[in-house]
Amino acid sequence: MPVTTVDERTLAQHSIRLILAQQTPEGAYPASPTFSAYRGYSWFRDGAFIADAASAAGYATSASRFFDWCASVLTDRAEHIQWIVSESDAGRPPAPQLMLPARFTFAGGDGTDEWWDFQLDGYGTWLWAATMHAQRHGESLERWRTAVELTVDYLVASWQRPCYDWWEEHQDHVHVSTLACIGAGLDAVAAFLDDDRRERVTAAVDGIRAVIAERGLTDGHLAKWLGSTAVDGSLAAVLAPLGFIPADSALGRQTLDTLDAHLDVDGGVHRYLGDTFFGGGQWPLLSCFLGLAHLAAGDRAAAERLYEWALAAATPDGDLPEQAGSHLIAPGMRQHWIDKWGTVATPLLWSHAMVLRLGLELGRLTPDDLSATTPARTPQKDSE
Ligand code: BGC
Repeated sequence: MPVTTVDERTLAQHSIRLILAQQTPEGAYPASPTFSAYRGYSWFRDGAFIADAASAAGYATSASRFFDWCASVLTDRAEHIQWIVSESDAGRPPAPQLMLPARFTFAGGDGTDEWWDFQLDGYGTWLWAATMHAQRHGESLERWRTAVELTVDYLVASWQRPCYDWWEEHQDHVHVSTLACIGAGLDAVAAFLDDDRRERVTAAVDGIRAVIAERGLTDGHLAKWLGSTAVDGSLAAVLAPLGFIPADSALGRQTLDTLDAHLDVDGGVHRYLGDTFFGGGQWPLLSCFLGLAHLAAGDRAAAERLYEWALAAATPDGDLPEQAGSHLIAPGMRQHWIDKWGTVATPLLWSHAMVLRLGLELGRLTPDDLSATTPARTPQKDSE
């Protein structure tokens, strides 16, 4: 990994500027403005973590606008969601292609491009991020109540189903990080719900915890999917920032040890062993998730090391890629993906968000560092 020429503060300011400048008038955060396969779409997963970082950085209005966008996507589909819930409750769960998609156009449409769409994690993550945001800024979830209730009903009815994972792969499995995103989201909003929904949510969260304990562990650590013996970089998020499993528990520590041993190479974190996407490089956003998890477990030095690697992944212009190509698991596959989709997605807004999030959590950045020289903040400032 070459040493970056962009210093930490400049990168942080560039990151928040990019996120604010790219947010669409509808409130959506594009995954990557330039990458062929992502252009024109916003994901609930990426967007929820981007909003969480914007919120932590003091840009509450931007985060709220994203949650407004999520809410309108959901309320526009209220009838369809109610149909999914009633069919599921009647023992006729709709086929995967009839479930909600993972990504939407900025205008909130389903889009016309084929995608690996049935993914449940983002629906939990938006609930979690919106609740954290409301708590952080002393706001209420009330303005999103209808959308929150629709999401809760959808997840309570569907959480046990196999679906695509964070990487839009392996649709036949139930993924532990997906379960944790759902569990963390349901748990976060429970106190806000009416008694009936809260009871159903409590039962679902208990069910998620039980299924992870029974089938989602291997060798004392979290597993990639129920019944798997492998790990996945997304499991770091289960420990932090989601906090669904305490990072400093025996299970958290064993998961951290295994992620370190299997996926971290010099601070750059691979998605999973056997990854071939663009040759299977290291993802800055995963270094940041692992850094957040180590920090939550009390290992600041490990978090700093991972953060340094993520910073160094920036281009000289300060853009962060989806993945860095300096250590590849499957070098022979890199060209295949370049021929198919062009060079690696750069900038990827989610990468920028996670560097901000970890920098803030480490205390190496403060919201003031991000406001002083960031012109784009002015129109968004909540205090104005
Ligand atoms: C990743 C997803 C991500 C999407 C948009 C895909 O390649 O696998 O996790 O949501 O890109 O960034």
